[in-house]
Amino acid sequence: MRPPKLLIIEDEERMRRLFELVLKQEGYDLLLASTGEQGIRTLHDVADLDLIVTDLQLGKQSGLDVLEAAKRALPDVPVLIITGYGTVKSAVEAMKKGAYDYISKPVDNEELKIVLARALQVRQLSQDNRALRAGLHERFGFNRIVSVSSKMAEVKRLAMEVARTDVTVLITGESGTGKELLARAIHYAGARAGGPLVAVNCAGIPENLLESELFGYEKGAFTDAKKAKAGRFQLADRGTLFLDEIGEMSLAAQAKLLRVLEDHTVEPLGGVRGVKVDIRVICATNQTLPELIRKGSFREDLYYRLNVGTLHIPPLRERREDIRALLESFLEIASRERGTRIHQVSPEALALLEGYHWPGNVRELHNVMEWVTISCKEGEIKPEHLPAFLHPSAGTTHDTTSHKNVPSLLSFGLSVEEVEKAMLQEALEKTGGNVSEASRLLKVTRNTLRYRMAKYHLT
Ligand SMILES: Nc1ncnc2c1ncn2[C@@H]1O[C@H](COP(=O)(O)OP(=O)(O)OP(=O)(O)O)[C@@H](O)[C@H]1O
Ligand SMILES: [Mg+2]
Repeated sequence: MRPPKLLIIEDEERMRRLFELVLKQEGYDLLLASTGEQGIRTLHDVADLDLIVTDLQLGKQSGLDVLEAAKRALPDVPVLIITGYGTVKSAVEAMKKGAYDYISKPVDNEELKIVLARALQVRQLSQDNRALRAGLHERFGFNRIVSVSSKMAEVKRLAMEVARTDVTVLITGESGTGKELLARAIHYAGARAGGPLVAVNCAGIPENLLESELFGYEKGAFTDAKKAKAGRFQLADRGTLFLDEIGEMSLAAQAKLLRVLEDHTVEPLGGVRGVKVDIRVICATNQTLPELIRKGSFREDLYYRLNVGTLHIPPLRERREDIRALLESFLEIASRERGTRIHQVSPEALALLEGYHWPGNVRELHNVMEWVTISCKEGEIKPEHLPAFLHPSAGTTHDTTSHKNVPSLLSFGLSVEEVEKAMLQEALEKTGGNVSEASRLLKVTRNTLRYRMAKYHLT
């Protein structure tokens, strides 16, 4: 590790020498400046400064000017102020303006060392924190969401727009379509990214506990409430609350949620007064809420509240162009994170994957990839590496008479001839060589089919 780089701005020659003597021994990489001007120039010019120490009185310029310039140019670098006798008031002023700490003259060497070491720790922490956040962003950000199809690209575009606002969002879509992924991306791309993201699965908490879990309770609210407990709404203060499977919420909890959305106030159970919260709510459901409203299990007024920003993620079978890109993305991640060595999908395997109807959507596709990393050690994925249910012989999953289930061969850059030949072959295989049936599948006349079979030397 490189030594910490420290800029010292001190107009008194004697003091500079002293700092040099003490801090060189501590292993600091020292830069010395004798005027505020010189100090400000240095902090702009020198890369990766870790700490700034400045005297408050520097002749023409004051340490406060240095502080201001430092905060603007290097907001993460702590600034330590050295004050002379009788200027403690200005030191306090400096603290208000963002100085990390101050020590007064005469400077005690030991105190100086300790304060500097602590400031460096703080600097390290804030750097770690930033790296962590960047990591989270990388992991949960929009760049992780594959969207090759125009349908998904449009969802992503809308979501990025919504992320810039603070409106309540409702994400709908079948199970496994990526609702939670989208919710996280919205949180991490928005102004609340620095705040908490609290996720609650409304279906995962027993109904009688959901209310106290969400809204908290006061001491004595019920027999077991020995002390007060903050609900998830309060925990999400200044951040985002993600309410998954909102359709499972009881009518009582729905009423309370409505109140939070309208007044930004949470009422803990057994409490007399509401607690103000600053949260953004993102909900998700795989149910059709209007249907639940008809059945009387979902509040209509709440629905209209949630419906402000609705994002619907279409099922994977309605955006088959994403399949290949998702596969490639999953393979890439597996290879990066687990060192797997599968880098390609054979056209035949891809055709099977693209032809399947994916009732479990992207999650199911992801599970298949997990399977493949076991069945196919390295190289290229072939049909035999895929689980049995993906093979046409597995029966009902492939509706061979419906056009939309004919595998899309176009997407991997074959010539028309190659595609045509592959389609003929497939149709003949599926029908056991029965030309009449195969021609129906291919929607061509028998004569056409015979002519083409001859052309490609098929029997
Ligand atoms: N567009 C996408 N790009 C990359 N990965 C995706 C995409 N959509 C979904 N996934 C992945 O698929 C899996 C399922 O996604 P997620 O959990 O967000 O679905 P969900 O809609 O919340 O499902 P459920 O309704 O069952 O809770 C996750 O591993 C997620 O990372
Ligand atoms: Mg989910």
